[in-house]
Amino acid sequence: MTNIAKGLEGVLFTESKLTFINGAEGVLTHLGIPIQEWAENSTFEELSLALLNGRLPTAAELATFDADLKANRAIPDALAQVIAHMPQGVHPMQALRTAVSYLGLLDPQSEDTGADARRAISVRMIAQFSTIIAAINRAQEGKEIVAPRMDLTHAGNFLYMLTGKEPTAEQARLFDIALVLHVDHGMNASTFTAIATSSTLSDMYSCMTSAIGALKGPLHGGANEAVMDMLDEVGTPDKAEAYINAKLDAKEKIMGVGHRVYKYFDPRSRVLRDYAEVVANKEGKSNYYQILETIEKVVVDRIGSKGIYPNVDFYSGTVYSDLGIRKEFFTPIFALARISGWCASVIEYTGDNRLLRPDAVYTGATDAHYVQLQDRQ
Ligand code: ACO
Repeated sequence: MTNIAKGLEGVLFTESKLTFINGAEGVLTHLGIPIQEWAENSTFEELSLALLNGRLPTAAELATFDADLKANRAIPDALAQVIAHMPQGVHPMQALRTAVSYLGLLDPQSEDTGADARRAISVRMIAQFSTIIAAINRAQEGKEIVAPRMDLTHAGNFLYMLTGKEPTAEQARLFDIALVLHVDHGMNASTFTAIATSSTLSDMYSCMTSAIGALKGPLHGGANEAVMDMLDEVGTPDKAEAYINAKLDAKEKIMGVGHRVYKYFDPRSRVLRDYAEVVANKEGKSNYYQILETIEKVVVDRIGSKGIYPNVDFYSGTVYSDLGIRKEFFTPIFALARISGWCASVIEYTGDNRLLRPDAVYTGATDAHYVQLQDRQ
């Protein structure tokens, strides 16, 4: 009998030095360093560079990378015009996909698939995703696009461009930690998609637009937005238990819980939960956090035995909401962080490339013959 690895579960198709996950124990490391240590000590900029280089950078290397990112923050006017004239009502992930594809049209280096070009384009895209996403938000709100500032961190500058207001140091750091938690996660669907595209020796912009498409779906990056929809539907903490029990009785999926790899708590969800709790206590206002606490308890009690626990998307939305970010932008923010993981993974894979070309077990007809159109029923 042929074994089919439906969903490619457990299929090993390459080697990687970037990210390690032990799903049974809820462990995640980048370059061997636990995610909790990255979140506590590092920044989006540093983790991005560490993954691109495959090692921790020196202070001088980090300063150069930071300067490169800043120098590349601005987007071409032609792209700003495209963003400003996008149709109203499109999902920001659609807008991001189109904007990144258009950015490729404006980049004279875009068709160069050599290692140096892939890296140079990566640095530009890591810098410009932030400006593009903020510009999409401004355009959708009918406001002027805000030009990047060079005196702010990557996270702080994004919040500034998004809202037109400089964030507090605490807000910028909280957002930075959220970005760090999302930078990379092994062979998730969008990273795999980026790699699959790169394995044909296609260009970086094609790889990244493919990845954006994969991240957009509600079983992957789109889940954080779906969690917020669920919280709004629940309404108040006292209704959470009955709401989740009814969903589970009806065998419906709860968004923000369950994971293909983690069969225990996703460690990123633990870090985010701690911040969500701090935010909720400080403001004394968050119904969301209380609803999530109840949902977590019911889910773990009822289906924890199946390996279903909160994933990274469970608490991220409440943190973003507190920073004044609209829920439609939660998935683009995921992309804003994951761009670094996508680029690093593509660079790593294409360094020792092999065309990805799996197979399917054929279950269709075997001895059919062509029937002329006029003879068909
Ligand atoms: N709510 C309720 N039950 C669930 C959930 C859920 N979210 N996820 C899985 N289950 C149940 C399944 O119904 C199944 O039950 P059964 O054995 O009685 O049939 C069992 O748990 C195993 O589930 P699978 O579907 O085999 O698990 P899979 O690995 O395919 O699913 C997935 C992973 C797709 C992420 C799933 O858990 C899900 O849909 N979760 C909600 C969406 C979500 O939060 N996605 C974000 C993932 S993290 C990320 O991409 C950043």
